[in-house]
Amino acid sequence: MIDTHTHINMIEVTPADDIIKNAGNYGVDKLIIPAASTSDFDTIIELTNKHENVYGMLGIHPSEAKEWTDDIITRIKKLANKNKKIVAIGEIGLDYYWDKSFNDLQKEIFIKQIKLANELRLPIDVHDRDAHKDTFDILKEYNRGSIVIMHCFSGSVEFAKECIKEGWYLGIGGVVTFKNAIKMKEVARAVPLEQILLETDAPYLTPVPYRGKENQPAYVKFVAEEIARIRNTTFEEIDEITTQNAKRVFNI
Ligand code: NI
Repeated sequence: MIDTHTHINMIEVTPADDIIKNAGNYGVDKLIIPAASTSDFDTIIELTNKHENVYGMLGIHPSEAKEWTDDIITRIKKLANKNKKIVAIGEIGLDYYWDKSFNDLQKEIFIKQIKLANELRLPIDVHDRDAHKDTFDILKEYNRGSIVIMHCFSGSVEFAKECIKEGWYLGIGGVVTFKNAIKMKEVARAVPLEQILLETDAPYLTPVPYRGKENQPAYVKFVAEEIARIRNTTFEEIDEITTQNAKRVFNI
């Protein structure tokens, strides 16, 4: 398995080395760490250099849009060109859940980073919270050829199908294991397995049976098990196909 979206730099209790080792014990051989702000960049580069099976993304999360300055583009280009383990631009997108006062700024920064991903020929790891329509419209209008991953997909089956039709990938994480997450379970059943990626979004959204505790990449196994149950197939099939998907998408 590959945990395609895991903030191991934000996990507080367990040291990164132990987290990576434990992931291996659960059959998770590769991890990809997204950035939320520029303050993550150095740690991500450091972790990708130190651990063979750790990859990174660079980008500014929509909630951090106010920290944007245009020289971030130069900085990301430089880091990504030098370090081949930077495999995507992310996480970038729109978040209308926490604070709606700077939606326009979020859109502007999102568009700039889509163009950056296109220029670097890297996939785009998208954060979309309560902003499905704007996220979709902006990607349709501005993306020129980058692979799109809707990280922590949270839309309806209808929206999932629209994304699938565009050739985009859906990142599915711990939420699918929650008993009351009827909509997510429907999505996990309805979309082609070839367009699903596994993720934890650790340290957030810990899957059952560890819900409420700190999340870590090892627990992506529980996500795979739940998807297997929902789709009435084996864990091995989910493991194999989603791993192939992640390797293809991120070229790892
Ligand atoms: Ni995230």
